[in-house]
Amino acid sequence: MIFIFAGYETTSSTLSFFFYNLATNPEAMKKLQEEIDQTFADKVELGELSESYLDAALHESLRLFPVAGRLERVCKKTVDINGLLIPKDMVVMIPTYALHRDPDYWSDPESFKPERSVINHKTQHCRELEPEKHRPEFTLKP
Ligand code: HEM
Repeated sequence: MIFIFAGYETTSSTLSFFFYNLATNPEAMKKLQEEIDQTFADKVELGELSESYLDAALHESLRLFPVAGRLERVCKKTVDINGLLIPKDMVVMIPTYALHRDPDYWSDPESFKPERSVINHKTQHCRELEPEKHRPEFTLKP
């Protein structure tokens, strides 16, 4: 059941948008094809995929077209965040789609630029995004 409801639509949408982004950005597709020809000629270990252009292109595609356009969480206890009171049991909505295209966080947010989405292997952070700059103080530090 999980495969059908959580896995099927998410995977097919992700791949559809990924190929759409490549088709409309031929430079990126060429770069990815070159990387695939060079790197993946033989057997590849999964660990090698991080920091690859393939990984970055997929992240960038998910940034532009996140499968979950918004997330929701229920507040377990009343909290005060910089003067904003969130009562216990209130549903908090996280606008994933809007955040992913917010010009405060992303330069030229509407464009497909895999280079910006290269994940730093050690920090697990995206190259362009600076989590320390934007992360609210109440969250956990890495
Ligand atoms: C590219 C493919 C996929 C994407 C983009 C994706 C995306 C997501 C996202 C964003 C969430 C978090 C939702 C939230 O926190 O409210 C999630 C949760 C989940 N996904 Fe996926 N998903 C994918 C594939 C799959 C597959 C193939 C399966 C299972 C076969 C799966 C099973 C689940 C489950 C069980 C959760 C809930 C996890 C939890 O709450 O602990 N997903 N997925």
